[in-house]
Amino acid sequence: MADHKTSDGDQRCQNLILFGATGDLAKRMLLPSLYALHADALIAPNLKIFGTARSELTDDGFRDMARDALDEFLPTDRKDEGAIASFLERLFYQPLDASTIEGFDDLAAKVGDISCGLAIFLSTAPFLFEPTIRGLQSAGLAGDNVRIGLEKPLGTDFESSAQINDAVAAVFPEERTFRIDHYLGKETVQNLMALRFANMLFEPVWNSNNIDHVQITVTETVGLEGRADFYDDTGALRDMVQNHMLQLLALIAMEPPGNFDATAIRDEKVKVLRALRPVPEGDSVTGQYGDGAVKGEPVKSYGDDLGDGSDTETFVALKAHVDNWRWQGVPFYLRTGKRMADRRSEIVVQFKPVPHNIFVGREGRLEANTLIIRLQPEEYVRLLVMAKEPGIDRDKIVLREVPLDLSLSQAFAGTRRRIAYERLLLDLVEGDQTLFVRRDEVEAQWKWIDEIRETWKTSGKKPKSYNAGGWGPSAAIALTERDGVSWHD
Ligand code: BG6
Repeated sequence: MADHKTSDGDQRCQNLILFGATGDLAKRMLLPSLYALHADALIAPNLKIFGTARSELTDDGFRDMARDALDEFLPTDRKDEGAIASFLERLFYQPLDASTIEGFDDLAAKVGDISCGLAIFLSTAPFLFEPTIRGLQSAGLAGDNVRIGLEKPLGTDFESSAQINDAVAAVFPEERTFRIDHYLGKETVQNLMALRFANMLFEPVWNSNNIDHVQITVTETVGLEGRADFYDDTGALRDMVQNHMLQLLALIAMEPPGNFDATAIRDEKVKVLRALRPVPEGDSVTGQYGDGAVKGEPVKSYGDDLGDGSDTETFVALKAHVDNWRWQGVPFYLRTGKRMADRRSEIVVQFKPVPHNIFVGREGRLEANTLIIRLQPEEYVRLLVMAKEPGIDRDKIVLREVPLDLSLSQAFAGTRRRIAYERLLLDLVEGDQTLFVRRDEVEAQWKWIDEIRETWKTSGKKPKSYNAGGWGPSAAIALTERDGVSWHD
């Protein structure tokens, strides 16, 4: 490790507090990510990690829990007994009921000296945000050298998110507030910017003159995954579109920022988010999975999973528009759902046809170019281009669409793929806000989402049933087909 200084010359934070340290996110993602940063010597050797939650655990109890989590969630090739043992020595635990102010002094006493910096990761129920912020402040855990990372859900609509943001802002200024959208920590999502702004090829054609429409698909095969209460109160629109999908849309649609830095990039993203046109009720489709089979395995309906009837959508498809010069008349079709045929995050940019087909007299049929950016599970960029099929054509020319393939997994085969949270936790510790969501972005996202929900309420829209393991309700197909567009399945 060369040095432990951030670009602004501060010492790296030597302390990290994880709220919700016994929760699912901590076990699956945060502890394995911190372990990876430790094993690769990316965090300062003296950085201590303090877990806190309601459970009455000792330091050793927390270390045992962490060891079990690493056992379960670390890939085998990352398990190194020596590194695990030294990682566990970094861990400490303080039980805390965040709804009361009393326990915070004990937490501060446990953490001790924070003069060299402190990063806090808050992954907690929305109702605990405000008391937690107050508690941190009263215990002296909110000073100038403290940064706070906030995990979603940050509210359920514009108003409740503004309330949380106000409570945070009263104690932590925006430059010390790190709102997490884990999609921004994904390597492939950052690659969208590299693709667009590190190549000459795409930018000149990246506009309504040349692009017919864009599709953004984030589908999952999983269902409720033990989060029934949260999910049923949330639904697909707020769980996935409000954050991850709108961030993807913003990265695809934004103007080139002047620099790769937090202010320049977020300034451009927020312009896109503010330019989103309200979606009329007829341009959105909601669905809820019924019985079916996913990858050959029979699965139950949402109602059965939940154990109750519900009007919560587990699928949503939308036709969105960005009202600016670059994107005038270009629909952005978005869809996301649980219990779908495949796990897939993908962006499809459909170009317009060439203005004149010179092959028409030789029966040469042309398809317009398509750019497919697959974010997960595979990582590739595929450009579908027209080519002539080999042959000594006498009176006709046979043209065929062939893929120009860039497999990122192959091109970077020797490079380990990191969990999004590895990157984000390191950025939080080091104070780099580039991949975090600024308040004005979140607010623009909520405004647009709230309007959609309002149209659903006014029209009494109810989710349409779809077979688990399929591609959503037929109305989602109709949403694009009526524009002469097919989803890229
Ligand atoms: C989370 C949602 O934000 O993202 C989950 O709350 C969803 O419902 C998850 O499953 C998807 O993330 P990923 O990284 O698996 O695509």
